[in-house]
Amino acid sequence: MAGITDADFLNKVIPYGFNVATLGGYSLDTPTIEASKKIIQRGRKEFDFPLDMIFNHIENEVGLIKKFHRNVKVSANVRSTNPQPIIEVGNIKKLDIVEINCHCRQNEILAIGCGQEMLKRDDLNKFISQIADNVSSEVSVKIRANVEGVDSLKIAKLVENAGADYLHVDAMKPGVFEADWQLLKEICNNVNIKVIGNNSVNSLENVKKMIDTGVNGFSIARSVISANLDFDITNF
Ligand SMILES: Cc1cc2nc3c(=O)[nH]c(=O)nc-3n(C[C@H](O)[C@H](O)[C@H](O)COP(=O)(O)O)c2cc1C
Repeated sequence: MAGITDADFLNKVIPYGFNVATLGGYSLDTPTIEASKKIIQRGRKEFDFPLDMIFNHIENEVGLIKKFHRNVKVSANVRSTNPQPIIEVGNIKKLDIVEINCHCRQNEILAIGCGQEMLKRDDLNKFISQIADNVSSEVSVKIRANVEGVDSLKIAKLVENAGADYLHVDAMKPGVFEADWQLLKEICNNVNIKVIGNNSVNSLENVKKMIDTGVNGFSIARSVISANLDFDITNF
């Protein structure tokens, strides 16, 4: 979660049972950094690092997590209009996973063709495969489901074919306060890539629904910051 999930925050929540911790989202090139500044100006939290600091910063943050939690995989969720800076992050020593953000829906990010707008790029396959072919870390692609004009299942297959290791799906369904369990099932039944389900894991009941979709793992965001989980995640 932009502006929130830094090493300090993650080190506090990892002991509750997480085996992957995601830093970021970070903006990595001039257009995304400028967009982040505009988002900050209207009062929303964002990480704000200049181009000449961001890569060192991420490397330090990874080190701060690994220092206390050697066996936890560290992921960095990143945005960029071109693959090169993402490749640079994916080659950071000790970083386990670089996660391409095809998910953000802040207007400033959409205006530069980033975040969920990436799902509409004709060259998305090439964008992902260029990264997958040139990094030492694993590659995750985080998508938002049910984006208007985008076939989520088609995107899931594209991400798999492009050579990513994980498909991270925010299964948001507009107008509904729960994940789109049916879509997650459909994706899991049609791809072999590891699928990480996301959205509305905020109760034991929803954990069960999430696991029943067939996902390989799941992620939790808002319930971690509000600290209102009514179950022990170490049981899963
Ligand atoms: C304040 C806030 C900031 C977020 N920032 C990011 C981000 O930078 N990158 C990203 O991929 N998702 C971001 N998200 C989305 C969450 O990671 C997650 O996909 C979404 O909240 C749904 O999952 P949940 O129901 O567990 O919260 C953010 C969510 C919130 C509430």
